[in-house]
Amino acid sequence: MAILPIVRLGRSVLREAAQPVDPARLGSPELQTLIDDMIETMYAAPGIGLAAPQIGVPLRIFVIDLSVGRDPHGLLVMINPEFVSRDGMQLEEEGCLSVPGFNATVVRPQRAVVKGLNREGVAVQHEGTDLLARAFQHEMDHLDGTLFVDRLRGIKRDMIVRKIRKLSRSGKW
Ligand code: NI
Repeated sequence: MAILPIVRLGRSVLREAAQPVDPARLGSPELQTLIDDMIETMYAAPGIGLAAPQIGVPLRIFVIDLSVGRDPHGLLVMINPEFVSRDGMQLEEEGCLSVPGFNATVVRPQRAVVKGLNREGVAVQHEGTDLLARAFQHEMDHLDGTLFVDRLRGIKRDMIVRKIRKLSRSGKW
């Protein structure tokens, strides 16, 4: 397993729609290693979620663990995830490992049900409320090239983008 560098806002891989994983590939050591590396990278950050594009891989895979490794049953690996349903609304502070140092209040569904494959290729479905629903929506967004800053109102988004541009110019991003 390896801790991989996390790609930051500004890199095109974060803006692409990620490609579905061929389920036959889940038997390959390459794909299993990729998943292990995503988990390791998420825990090391530390973070509660990571999508494959964030390590530069444009595939529809995300990992989530709200316990950051403390709960042995806390880890979710989702391959080719899709929403089954979303309802309600919550407003909470949110950040992203690809936009380090910035947080903002983002509107998200209060409850979300996601289905997909686990790392063994078995069909699974998970329901999340509150923080888990937020994490589902955040990671699903990554697979479609959307970042949390895109969900902000213009002024707040412009302020973050301007600060990041400034950091980039001085080589600090
Ligand atoms: Ni993120």
